[in-house]
Amino acid sequence: MIVTIDGPAGAGKSTIAKLLAEKIGFLYVDTGAMYRALTLKIIRYGIAFSDTQAIVSLAKKTVIQLQKNDGTQQTKVMLDGNDVSEDIRHPEITNAVFNIAGMPEIRRIMVQWQRGYGKAGNIVMEGRDIGTVVFPHAEKKFYLDATPPVRAQRRFRELEEKGVGIGLDEVVRQIKDRDYKDMTRTCGPLKKADDAVYIDSTRRQISEVVDTLLTYLDNEKVI
Ligand code: DC
Repeated sequence: MIVTIDGPAGAGKSTIAKLLAEKIGFLYVDTGAMYRALTLKIIRYGIAFSDTQAIVSLAKKTVIQLQKNDGTQQTKVMLDGNDVSEDIRHPEITNAVFNIAGMPEIRRIMVQWQRGYGKAGNIVMEGRDIGTVVFPHAEKKFYLDATPPVRAQRRFRELEEKGVGIGLDEVVRQIKDRDYKDMTRTCGPLKKADDAVYIDSTRRQISEVVDTLLTYLDNEKVI
């Protein structure tokens, strides 16, 4: 069974998808981490984001693996065999991913990789185009949303905890910019699949949202 969760940055997708996967014993797949890992490699190799050909050829020689860290809810992100879980969360990467997320050739490669996980069995996969492009026939689809100010506030707190000095206004600006880029790209834009359940997490605790998702799955064959 495949469960998809799409939605904008800061809607709580990762936390919620991770907890849900844990509860129902499914594999959790964070597709944003895959885009981030490739972006990190491009930067490390000093390749210009305008050089699509070099980027595509680099992607074809890249191995990205998402490994479950036993005993924790964390997933290790391995880039060509090296753990890059921390490095891919750096603001430099967050701000650069859009460069490759808009490349149809790269999205095709990512979609192939992501479909590979579907063959492994039961998964919860989160991203932007999972219910629309990667698994249009998934058994259960969710679209998780929250208002931009609340998403910015959550992101601001995360950055503060990491000691990144940035003002709330700037985070609001970045969130709006990411929404615009995610929703307007021609290939694989962020949008709710017609058959996805829309969930607004604005005024709800994480545990409440997970419980809501579970009630939708409850009627199915999961539990
Ligand atoms: O979910 P995230 O913030 O870690 O995603 C990082 C970037 O990757 C984000 O800018 C959008 C892009 N992305 C995408 O285009 N398609 C996906 N399925 C997942 C992420």
